[in-house]
Amino acid sequence: GSDGHAHFMHKEIAEQPDSVRRVLKGRLDERFHTVRLGGLEMDARELREFRRVKILGCGSAYYAGQAGAQFIEEVARIPADAEPASEFRYRNPVIEKDTLYVAVSQSGETYDTLVAVQELKRKGGRVIGLVNAVGSSIARECDGGVYLHAGPEVAVASTKALTNMLVGFALLGLHLGRIRDVSPADGRRLITALQALPEQIERILADEDHLAAVAKDLAQAPSLFFVGRTRGFPVAREGAQKLKEISYRHAEAYQTSELKHGPLALVGPELPTVAIVPDDELLERNLGALQEITARSGPLVVVTHDGVDLGVVPAHVIAVPKSEPELDPLLLTIPLQLLAYHAALTLGHDVDKPRNLAKSVTVE
Ligand code: BG6
Repeated sequence: GSDGHAHFMHKEIAEQPDSVRRVLKGRLDERFHTVRLGGLEMDARELREFRRVKILGCGSAYYAGQAGAQFIEEVARIPADAEPASEFRYRNPVIEKDTLYVAVSQSGETYDTLVAVQELKRKGGRVIGLVNAVGSSIARECDGGVYLHAGPEVAVASTKALTNMLVGFALLGLHLGRIRDVSPADGRRLITALQALPEQIERILADEDHLAAVAKDLAQAPSLFFVGRTRGFPVAREGAQKLKEISYRHAEAYQTSELKHGPLALVGPELPTVAIVPDDELLERNLGALQEITARSGPLVVVTHDGVDLGVVPAHVIAVPKSEPELDPLLLTIPLQLLAYHAALTLGHDVDKPRNLAKSVTVE
């Protein structure tokens, strides 16, 4: 059952400190400041030959893949990108020998992702899985992989599995980086940040009453923007997706930098924006974009870091603990889960079983 929680989604959100501990368990090597991934079944020599990483998944797994691609490219300095598996399998893609393909899936049974893996294998591609369900079809089909150990996820909207996907990509990215040019000091910096995540997630979850109040407000709007840039953009996409899935509100994700190239025309008192504003090298630019929004009386919810001064920008502020910049997306995603959950509750929807959706889509 849902163990005293009103919904499975709530239980799974609350489990995240523990499920993150599980995906990290036994994988951090504090002596050599690196990561041990026994399930990869590829040694350092083979892994060093890949010149590109291509990540395939569907829905939230695709957004996790987008964040994962940014982590891998930024940390390991290997060009990386993500594409919906549902598109990849239909477009007769070029399969390259020196590309590491990564399939990402909670259930391991998503048909579009499975067929993409089979197609890759048929054409000689090397593919590993970031999969939660042990022994699932995708896990069996891949050459090796990283199990996510989030435990069973019941709610249709993915929470703890998605978080562990982000951790899984960080482990993979750090591993690929340390067998290339990432220094021991950088390895140590990221390992320390990974170890801090469970306790930092606990602190975000303790802010639930505040998040519920913000969600009540947001639920009144028929349409919303979610904006973020670079590392914040997959966070915005996932936040918009969650809201759509369970509250049935229209939510659209945009790069903050693209607002002025079109969507700003829609901003006004009727259209709230949820802005992802990490305390990083783009902070000043992001604050500039927020001013553009408030100048047009657009209501704002800013998801940022503890201690950031937003200046005169009027907004609901949701502050999360700071991580290392490359890992910021993970913690910034957590409050958006609770925003979507409480928005759906406010609107009286079936949080765990949204209309028209299945937990895993095993058909074409
Ligand atoms: C969708 C689910 O159909 O499949 C999403 O509704 C999920 O919640 C997506 O993110 C991918 O599922 P999986 O199991 O491959 O991660």
